[in-house]
This record gives sequence, structure tokens and C-alpha cells, in this order.
Amino acid sequence: MILLDGRKCSNEIKDEIKEQVDALKAKGQKVPHLAAVLVGNDGASLTYVGSKVRACERVGFESTLIRLDEETTEEVLLKTIENLNNDDEIDGFIVQLPLPKHIDEEKVLLAVDPDKDVDGFHPTNFGRMALDMESFIPATPFGIMELLRRNEVDTQGKHTVIIGRSHIVGRPMSILMSRKGNPGNSTVTLAHSRTQNIEEYIKSADIVISALGVPEFVKADMVKEGAVVIDVGITRVPDESHPKGYVIKGDVEFDGVSAKSSHITPVPGGVGPMTIAMLLQNTLLARARRA
Ligand code: GUN
Repeated sequence: MILLDGRKCSNEIKDEIKEQVDALKAKGQKVPHLAAVLVGNDGASLTYVGSKVRACERVGFESTLIRLDEETTEEVLLKTIENLNNDDEIDGFIVQLPLPKHIDEEKVLLAVDPDKDVDGFHPTNFGRMALDMESFIPATPFGIMELLRRNEVDTQGKHTVIIGRSHIVGRPMSILMSRKGNPGNSTVTLAHSRTQNIEEYIKSADIVISALGVPEFVKADMVKEGAVVIDVGITRVPDESHPKGYVIKGDVEFDGVSAKSSHITPVPGGVGPMTIAMLLQNTLLARARRA
């Protein structure tokens, strides 16, 4: 079994990005500037955004964190986005999801200038991705593709089963794995909560990508011997014996499944760090396009 080490891979990518930033600085050029908007106090979102800001510092990017309180109106958030769209200093920005219930997520994502949409969530970028055109690719699926590519995992003609059809992971992942390319050229099944006999599909998969958010859903008896298993789940499960009061669990029952798989991502240290590296990569691209 080969462990797909997202921490190591993301550190390599961050080192490569830092080299490019150092080269920009040496030429006296502007370094990439990423902004993140966080509405409210969700613990997991605070952690993710904190990691994104720290990653910017590590590679030499400028970063700006805009925190708005939980009661912020949709109007104020849309105004904040308009300001970021028009701010020449900012190369790219993200609005951390999920948003409080009183805010219409669709309206918010549509308000982001596609040229600054380093999350790749705007329909322009999503559509361009689906049509094999150059675009910003959502960071988590992009990170999984890069993890597969750098570990030379063969996806050509393989049956990939993706579990979960979210706009952030499952849906874009299904597009990327079925696109022409390497990685890619895979035969994709997108399974979800309404899929009948989901276990039969998972059992037939050469590559399983689980983005369900149900801790330890994928068990050893559900996967084929030699399968590649990518675990996108990061659920906080209450655990009073732990100082933080919770433990992080993936979608995959790691001990059993790893014994059968050819490649597997750990949680934590698998897909999570890759997401951050690819957000930086998109921001570097945004800067290069604006230069
Ligand atoms: N929430 C969970 N994942 C993401 C992500 O990749 N981007 C944003 N903006 N919010 C998220």
C-alpha cells in the first residue's frame, strides 16, 4: 500500500510557488495578493481560513482576511465583494462557505468577478472547466488531480466512483476525471444519497473518491482489492477524551481499507493540505494573468 501523502506533496508545491514569488520580488514585481471573506464564527471555517492565510505567509503572498459577523446582511456582503472586485491590489479572493442561512449563496458566488474567482465556483469558471477551456479549477478537486499526477497513479480507462455530488467536490471531480488528460480519461460513476446499491458500485471501482462527510462510511468489505482510495471527508466527531473536544474523521475506515488498497490518502494529511496548495496555485495564476 502506498500512502498518498498530501502534506509532503503540498509542501513541494508551496516550495515551487515560493520560488516563483521570490523571482517576482527579485524583479521588483508585485507579489500575489489573496483575500478571504469569512462570515460568522463557524469553528471549522475559522480553522480553514486561518490555514489559508498562514499558507500565504509561507510562500510570500500578501493576504487580507475580512471577517464579518454572523448577522451581516446579504447587501453588506455583496458590497464587500464589489469592493474586492474593484480593488486593484487584490488578485484573487474567496468567500468561505458555508454562509449563514439568511444569505443566498448563489447570489454571492455570482457576484464574484470570474477573473478573481480563485475558488473556481463562478458558473463562468465551472462551465469553462467542463468545456476543457482554461479556467480556475476548484481547489479540492484540483488538489486531488495533482496528488494523483505527482504520484503517477494510473487513471486511464479506469472506473472511478465518486461518492457525493456537491458543487465544491463531487460534481467538479466527476468532470475532471472524465476529461481527456492525465490524470483523467476515467470512466466515471457519480454516486450520491439516492444511488441504489451504492455498495455494488464502490466494489466495482478501481478508484474511489469519497466526499460524503459521513465518518468511516467506506468499509473494507466495500472496496476491491488493489483499489485507489481518496478520502475527502473531514468531519469533527465529538470526543471528550481529546483536548479539543473532538476528533477529525474521514469518510473511510482507514485501517481496514488501507490493508486492501494500492494507494490511499490519510485523514488528516491527505486531501486537506492539497486544497490549500492549489488555492495558492490559482492565486499565482490570477496574478500572472493580471500582470
Ligand atoms: N468550504 C469548504 N471548502 C471550501 C473551499 O474550497 N472554498 C470555500 N470558499 N469554502 C469552502
